[in-house]
Amino acid sequence: MTMSSRAVSGTAELDHFYDAVKRIHGRALWQTAGTAKKPPTVPYLWKYRDFRPLLIKAAEIVPIELAERRVLVMANPGITTDWQASNTLLANLQIIKPGEVARSHRHTASALRLVIEGSGAYTAVDGEKSYMEPGDFVTTPNWTWHDHGNEGASAMIWLDGLDVPLVQGLEANLYEAYSAKKFPVTKPTDLSLRLYGAGSLRPTWVKHHAIHSPLLNYKFAQTYAALKAMAGQAEGSPYDGVSVEYTNPLTGGPALPTMACFASLLRPGRHTQAHRHTGGTIYHVTHGSGRSIIGGKVFHWDEKDTFVVPSWAWHEHHATSESVLFSYSDSAVLQPFGLYHEEALEENGGHQKVEGEFEPLPVPERRPAA
Ligand SMILES: [Fe+2]
Ligand SMILES: [Fe+2]
Repeated sequence: MTMSSRAVSGTAELDHFYDAVKRIHGRALWQTAGTAKKPPTVPYLWKYRDFRPLLIKAAEIVPIELAERRVLVMANPGITTDWQASNTLLANLQIIKPGEVARSHRHTASALRLVIEGSGAYTAVDGEKSYMEPGDFVTTPNWTWHDHGNEGASAMIWLDGLDVPLVQGLEANLYEAYSAKKFPVTKPTDLSLRLYGAGSLRPTWVKHHAIHSPLLNYKFAQTYAALKAMAGQAEGSPYDGVSVEYTNPLTGGPALPTMACFASLLRPGRHTQAHRHTGGTIYHVTHGSGRSIIGGKVFHWDEKDTFVVPSWAWHEHHATSESVLFSYSDSAVLQPFGLYHEEALEENGGHQKVEGEFEPLPVPERRPAA
């Protein structure tokens, strides 16, 4: 209760008045003003070693035809209304076995893949196939037809990042299944990589009118080489190490309109400064190991783990071996509307006071997803 609501309550006449307002589906604003809602997203870490055996098991016992996508969701224990990693983003793990096809569909939510293990599987987007390798960042833009297939000899696992909770909050979440298992392949494999993969060289004869990046696959080998070259010359960001954003080569903007995506190289033994900003961020450890201090707690991460830094939570990183963190954030939505705010921690040499270690939380009761 706020000061103002105390000042205007406690008489029979006011109680009667509030009841009358409620009966017409109204609410007196002065009864709610000043009562800030605590954001539900909590910092959390999902260990790949916990998820991998269950993904392998799912591949044995759950036919892909029934699941459509064989996916395990990483659910934030602070969010009890649904299964999602943060207030706006999903972080899911998907497995596809050799010979399988995850059938074609499209949705208004945007999706990205960060490949974790395996080879020989492809994502096809609007008639273009791209074969994926570990560390590749693959886009599946809003409302594009897409299917996945595994033509390799071993299972492939990747991280799926989606903006579904954001799009659901906007009540704009549309979905459509394609009439056949696969959308027809109408373009050469990796056409977009050949057209736009050189970054600053733009093909003059190709027209691309969509607001998302025309590039479907940002190859890890190219990203890593760029990070290493930069690390040889530059200190990088005090907060993120040698960090690059995956951009739309035509505009310089985010690769996907709603998700800003990054790769950050952290040098071994180096401790970044703490900062906080609006926008929740999902991190995935492409390689390396280390720890992050988030909201005063130490989160130890290893290769292939995933963790979330909620909006406005202090965070800093400390790699124990050379590490590359892939991350994606809803800051792409915040930036254009003046909602992105950032500040550095000034006291204590720019480092948080450590209050404890991350411990897995009990699984909360959740309202079943609609
Ligand atoms: Fe999809
Ligand atoms: Fe940050």
